[in-house]
Amino acid sequence: MIARIAELRKDVEDFQISGADLLEQFRIRYLSKKGSISTLFEGFRNVPPEEKRETGRLLNELKQLATDKYNEHRERLSFAETVTSETDLSRPAWPLRAGTRHPISIIRYQVIDIFSRMGFTVSEGPEIEDDNHVFTLLNFARDHPARDMQDTFFIRKSSGVESHPDDVLLRTHTSSVQVRVMEKEQPPIRTISPGRVFRNEAVSARAHCIFHQVEGLYIAENVSFADLRQTLLYFAVELFGKDVRIRLRPSYFPFTEPSAEMDINCNLCGGEGCSVCKGTGWLELLGCGMVDPNVLEACGIDSEKYTGYAFGLGIERAAMLKYGVNDLRLYFENDIRFLNQFRSEIL
Ligand code: DAH
Repeated sequence: MIARIAELRKDVEDFQISGADLLEQFRIRYLSKKGSISTLFEGFRNVPPEEKRETGRLLNELKQLATDKYNEHRERLSFAETVTSETDLSRPAWPLRAGTRHPISIIRYQVIDIFSRMGFTVSEGPEIEDDNHVFTLLNFARDHPARDMQDTFFIRKSSGVESHPDDVLLRTHTSSVQVRVMEKEQPPIRTISPGRVFRNEAVSARAHCIFHQVEGLYIAENVSFADLRQTLLYFAVELFGKDVRIRLRPSYFPFTEPSAEMDINCNLCGGEGCSVCKGTGWLELLGCGMVDPNVLEACGIDSEKYTGYAFGLGIERAAMLKYGVNDLRLYFENDIRFLNQFRSEIL
């Protein structure tokens, strides 16, 4: 009897229960009324009295072992019951849908990244500004049209038409941050200022009353227009790829002299001329120039010793060119079908 118990114990231990069918087989074979353990219990009465004690102990142990094994596997398999045989266990889990960055943020971060690599710091200024920082210190004439309420959102305007240094307004460009930086710091200054700007414009595919700019400013000794051009070329190549071409056109801004506008070749038509580039093959990307000595002096920088360049880039414009989007309003409507198309490597 004892040998038979040992044999059965080994069988119970070795029995592999890998599924519900085998679990049932196990139960029938060992634990059911007609199972081998019950059969042994039946034979117990024939065991000689002197062996009863030891045999009984082993027999109970065997029953316990089989019962525990049965319960343990039943629990495990009932947990796995939800997994049917059709379930493909190699299938990836449901993806966690992380949000995507807004295209304007993507470009903003890329611009910051590119200029950071060239040693530019990032500085910021207020969106609600005074007349001085947005216009006067930037060499805007008293009667410049930008000072008109038609173009600028005023929060507080002292007198009718005349501008006043205390007038409070929403900044119309990030060039105001140039002034704030120059007031605080002495050259060498090398900084970019990304931010929102506001203009009193009717909203259309090409214009909006709120948009984003990145201002750039570099002031040191012997800074030249060639430095400006090379910096902008590097920037354009980094943002748009090595095949990009740039062109600088003479222009006018009150705060730079000489001034220029930079175009890049139109990627929508490959330079052939299309409706977006109005048949020219070129698209305007930014304004730039050498900081006017009047501005340097107004901000407390010695214009005899230092020269500098500045530029101002529209982020929506850069994003439109990069992504081939031809309606500015899409950036503000937050239509999920539009936004979902953008992916960023920057988290
Ligand atoms: N502030 C100009 C604008 O909003 C852009 C600009 C042009 C900025 C020339 C500059 C610059 O710093 O040098 O249109």
